[in-house]
Amino acid sequence: MKIMAFTQISEEERDAKVRKIIPRDNMDSPDNSENRIVITGKGGTGKTTITAMLSYMLEKNHHVLAVDADPQMNLPYAMGMDKNAVKRIIPLNMQVDYIEERTGARPGSGWGEFLSLNPDVTDVVNRFGVKIDDRISILVMGTLHKSGIGCLCPENDLLDAVVRHISIRNNENILMDTEAGVEHFGRAIARGFGHAIVVSDVTFNSVQVAASAMKLAWDLGIKGIHLVFNRVEKGTDEVNELLGEIDADLPYTVDMIPYDGKVKTINPSVKHLMTEENAFLPAVKELLNKIYPEMREENRA
Ligand SMILES: Nc1ncnc2c1ncn2[C@@H]1O[C@H](COP(=O)(O)OP(=O)(O)O)[C@@H](O)[C@H]1O
Ligand SMILES: [Mg+2]
Repeated sequence: MKIMAFTQISEEERDAKVRKIIPRDNMDSPDNSENRIVITGKGGTGKTTITAMLSYMLEKNHHVLAVDADPQMNLPYAMGMDKNAVKRIIPLNMQVDYIEERTGARPGSGWGEFLSLNPDVTDVVNRFGVKIDDRISILVMGTLHKSGIGCLCPENDLLDAVVRHISIRNNENILMDTEAGVEHFGRAIARGFGHAIVVSDVTFNSVQVAASAMKLAWDLGIKGIHLVFNRVEKGTDEVNELLGEIDADLPYTVDMIPYDGKVKTINPSVKHLMTEENAFLPAVKELLNKIYPEMREENRA
């Protein structure tokens, strides 16, 4: 397996690969796609924990919009919201009035007369984003219907439009925590997400899921692919062995986050990890430094 530096593959080569599956007009990312990161990988690998931690790190410099695109909706807890507040959240796929207002069709009631496939959702974050603190908001998407190709559900159209819309928001970092892969949001994500963090356990199965997620993200035009081995207990040898299993001819970075019992506390919020001594925080910091080298403390003016 080769780990290529980004510079070893030209823009043209990458675009040629991507163009095979996405029409050109959907490919042009806005200039600030750097600000948007999608987090994928097999269930239970640590995506939500890492997303929450990154949000807390990024808020030091930026406004952060954390998007929970996993139907399990764990992210609000990881971000420190209490149970009652989380219970009050109505995920976007359940906002039936809004969906009807914007798409012209009420979920579950068949087609509206004037169904909009391109609903205006520019107000979605202001209306439904929940503030965690002064700088972090969270948007909970809810369950996307997966009735396969050709599912014409208004709620799917809405969620798709929301992903497209957040893909062009300015002046904030967007972190999108997903269920497993980027499949469901493929085209919407292709426009505007500059980075994919693909989280894997140190297991063969998990790394297989990661390899296909990396490939998909790459094929969708995401330029920064970051493979992260989480809960590493034995160290680099084990990870290197698994890296050999990845048959993906694309450039990516590799990071390791050690297992730390302090992460797995009863309190699902990760905020305590920001101030407590632990092995998780410095490793996630290292990952962030790879994604945004200019943010490294020593690089700041
Ligand atoms: N580095 C780590 N060390 C110890 N436990 C971890 C680590 N990273 C995540 N965990 C724990 O693993 C479990 C799954 O993490 P989670 O973020 O919910 O995964 P996912 O979102 O991918 O399903 C949680 O209990 C979390 O506290
Ligand atoms: Mg999760």
